[in-house]
Amino acid sequence: MEVISTIAELRARLDPERRAGRTIGFVPTMGYLHQGHITLVDRARADNDVVVTSIFVNPLQFAPTEDLDRYPRDLPRDCRMLMAAGCDVVFAPAVSEMYPSPMETMVDVTSLSHLLEGERRPGHFRGVATVVAKLFGIAMPSAAYFGEKDYQQLLVIKRMVADLAMPIRIVGVPTVRDPDGVACSSRNVFLRADERAAAPILSRSLAMAEEAVAGGLVVGHALEKKIRAFIETEPLAAPDLVAVRDADTLAEVDSAHPPRALVVLLAVRFGRTRLLDQRVIPVPQSSGRNPE
Ligand code: PAF
Repeated sequence: MEVISTIAELRARLDPERRAGRTIGFVPTMGYLHQGHITLVDRARADNDVVVTSIFVNPLQFAPTEDLDRYPRDLPRDCRMLMAAGCDVVFAPAVSEMYPSPMETMVDVTSLSHLLEGERRPGHFRGVATVVAKLFGIAMPSAAYFGEKDYQQLLVIKRMVADLAMPIRIVGVPTVRDPDGVACSSRNVFLRADERAAAPILSRSLAMAEEAVAGGLVVGHALEKKIRAFIETEPLAAPDLVAVRDADTLAEVDSAHPPRALVVLLAVRFGRTRLLDQRVIPVPQSSGRNPE
C-alpha cells in the first residue's frame, strides 16, 4: 500500500491504471477510521481493480465554533487498518496541498444543503460538496463509497454528481453498528462512559419508529413527536434534530400521499458530542390517511 500526499503523485499513480482500463474505487474519509469505514473499503475492494482511500480533515466543512481542532487524528493507525483491508493507495494531503490559496470556487447543492442538518450547520454541506468535488477531480474514480449514516450528505453528493454529470457511480453503504446498536463514528471516542452507555437510545428510537410505521403511522410530525419523547426518556440525551422526511427527496411527508419510504434523521447531543443516526423505513403500500 502506498501513502501519497500530493495531487501530482496521486495523478501519476492513477493515470496508468485508468489508461489500462482498470476501475478505481474511492473512499473519501476524514480518518480516525472505524469498522464503518472499513466496510466501505471492503465494498470498494469487491467492486474495483484499484482502491484509493483519502484521509483529509476538511476545514471547509467545519464552522469556527465546531470541533475541527479536536477532531481525532491518527494516520499510522489508519494506515495499518487500511493495509489490512486491502486498500492500494492512501491519499493523505496537507491542508496546504488541498487549499494552497483560499477557495474562490465552491459547490453548493442549493436546496438539499440548506435544510435539516444544513440549517443547523450553515456552510457544512457546501464544504463537503466542494472537497468531494475536488477529490473526485483529483482521483477521477469509477465509483465512490459513502456511509448511509450521513444520509443527507449522501443525497447531496448524489445530487452534485447528477447535476454536474460527473461520470462516477455513488454507492451508499448501510450503517455499521456496535453490538449494542450504536452507529460507528469517529466521534464516539469523545463520549464519557455514562454517555456511551446512554447512546443506544438512538438505535432503539429508530426501531420504535419502524414499528410505528409498520403499524400505519406515517404522519411525519406525529412520528417526530413520538421519537423525540422516546429519546428524552434518556436524561443524558438532548435531541437536536429529529426529522421524518421522504427518503428520496427529504421533502416533508404528506400523509395523504405517503412516499415509497421515509427516512428518520437524528442528531442527538450527549454532553459536547453530537451523534448522528438514521433509518430508511419502507411505507406499507396500504398507508393513506393515518392515525396520529
Ligand atoms: O463523511 C466524511 O467523512 C466527510 O464529510 C467527507 C465525505 C470525507 C468529506 O470531507
